[in-house]
Amino acid sequence: MDSPSRTLPASWFCSPALYQLERRAVFLKSWHFLGPVTRFQDRKKPVIYEISQVTLIVENSSPESDGINSDGIIVYAEDKAKIKYHLTPSGLLFSTLSLDAPSFEEYFVGLEVLTNTVDFTKLPHRRSISYSGRFNWKTMIDGFQECLHCQYTHPTFSKYYPPTFYSVTNHSTFSQHIADPSKTSDGLFLYFFPICTLNVYGGGMSSFRTCPGTEPGWSRMEFDYYHSGTEAEFEEYFKFVRQVALEDFELCEKAQQGLEGGVYGEGVLNPVKENGVLFYQRRVRECVYRQFELEKKVKEEEREKEAGGGGMQGLGEGKNGAVAVQ
Ligand SMILES: [Fe+2]
Repeated sequence: MDSPSRTLPASWFCSPALYQLERRAVFLKSWHFLGPVTRFQDRKKPVIYEISQVTLIVENSSPESDGINSDGIIVYAEDKAKIKYHLTPSGLLFSTLSLDAPSFEEYFVGLEVLTNTVDFTKLPHRRSISYSGRFNWKTMIDGFQECLHCQYTHPTFSKYYPPTFYSVTNHSTFSQHIADPSKTSDGLFLYFFPICTLNVYGGGMSSFRTCPGTEPGWSRMEFDYYHSGTEAEFEEYFKFVRQVALEDFELCEKAQQGLEGGVYGEGVLNPVKENGVLFYQRRVRECVYRQFELEKKVKEEEREKEAGGGGMQGLGEGKNGAVAVQ
């Protein structure tokens, strides 16, 4: 049963047919955060992304001598499909996977007002890592969007950022997390719907994407790390943030096992402490419902055209009842 405070059912984390519907409803219609301009400072190496089976290439052709220069940054899809991209005045690069997404301004209403208060071009890119995990992309975002689990899952993190202060503010397609309101330049976490984050804490900055795999129970985690310190300082920061990421990874693999094994069906979310989860899951649900209705209408129209009217079979009536939009 739909209720404003209920989680998405476990089937939304496991069903292959629903996953494909989600791809069309969410990923192909969204904007994705690729990185601050400092990610693209090596002019010789294009940066390659794969999001929801679409490969994007970022090239920076601005003159090397200009240092941080965003004028020459271009983004294109490997298969030459048309996409859109946008660089904010504060130096953050975003891209779509198709032309089905709305304009940047329409999608991220109010984002630049927030990001323009921070200079994201200060910290140089230091390292990027990537690995696969056995969990649905939403299993990871569920954990990112709340900090109720922080105290018992992240003991070192909780020492520096006590969960008592932790709060999440949701906007149309992004969330701002603040670990401690008295420190404005530390403990800032941004979530960009659907799969990207930007995290300023522990003395550096990191960004991760939870890239959906070809099956619902797999994701590829991609992390980029930014830091201005010495090699030793960076390694210390890296160790700290990696510890937090590994703790989350373990939690997600276990949660996914519970979702796939029928241990966990659905539950109720805390409207204050889990408002970030409620916000993003609601948006997923809305996008999927809208896409379902859209595709159903198109199919009905096609059938009516073929048979001269009357066709009513929708997506939900597939051969094995595969899609069950609840
Ligand atoms: Fe966590």
